[in-house]
Amino acid sequence: NSTLEQTLLSAIRTIPDYPKPGILFRDITTLLGDARAFRRAVDELVHPYSGTGVAKIAGIEARGFILGGAMAHQLSSGFVPIRKKGKLPHTTVRVAYSLEYGVDEMEMHTDAVQPGEKVILVDDLIATGGTAEGAVKLLKQMGADIVAACFVIDLPDLGGRKKLEALGVNVRTLVSFEGH
Ligand code: PRP
Ligand code: MG
Repeated sequence: NSTLEQTLLSAIRTIPDYPKPGILFRDITTLLGDARAFRRAVDELVHPYSGTGVAKIAGIEARGFILGGAMAHQLSSGFVPIRKKGKLPHTTVRVAYSLEYGVDEMEMHTDAVQPGEKVILVDDLIATGGTAEGAVKLLKQMGADIVAACFVIDLPDLGGRKKLEALGVNVRTLVSFEGH
């Protein structure tokens, strides 16, 4: 009966030199494919919010969709996709966000969240925090009450958690890999 942290750490696969030399890629497909680990991760992510009136889970494309869909089901909340630009068919708000090299843009439908609704943001991993910061900007622009931003994996040396906390966002992560 291993601890949650042991279960999750042993279910995450590390691929050296992907997508380029020197990078250790933390791959959650093995966690998602492990029935027990997947359930335990989702249970832990939603645990503090059961019965607290969370209206929406906002998931960041692409891996945040998988976790966010499961969380929304478990909390009986709605799900909101935050997508790379050009994928959403209706009226959107758009924000530029920084990637390791250069910038990209992400979007959310303008009617996806109502002002004052409690929303939890989710993605698989936080590194520099550029992606999550963009998502926070979109949610704030629509007047969401961001209860927390949740991630399975934290890479603390890249500073993302601190970046979000500086924006006043409560950050939750399940496991962390130091020395990145
Ligand atoms: C990865 C990861 C997070 C983001 C974290 O996504 O899934 O979304 O990077 O990095 P950051 O904190 O430095 O912004 P990626 O951009 O590879 O896209 P994908 O999830 O669509 O594969
Ligand atoms: Mg991603």
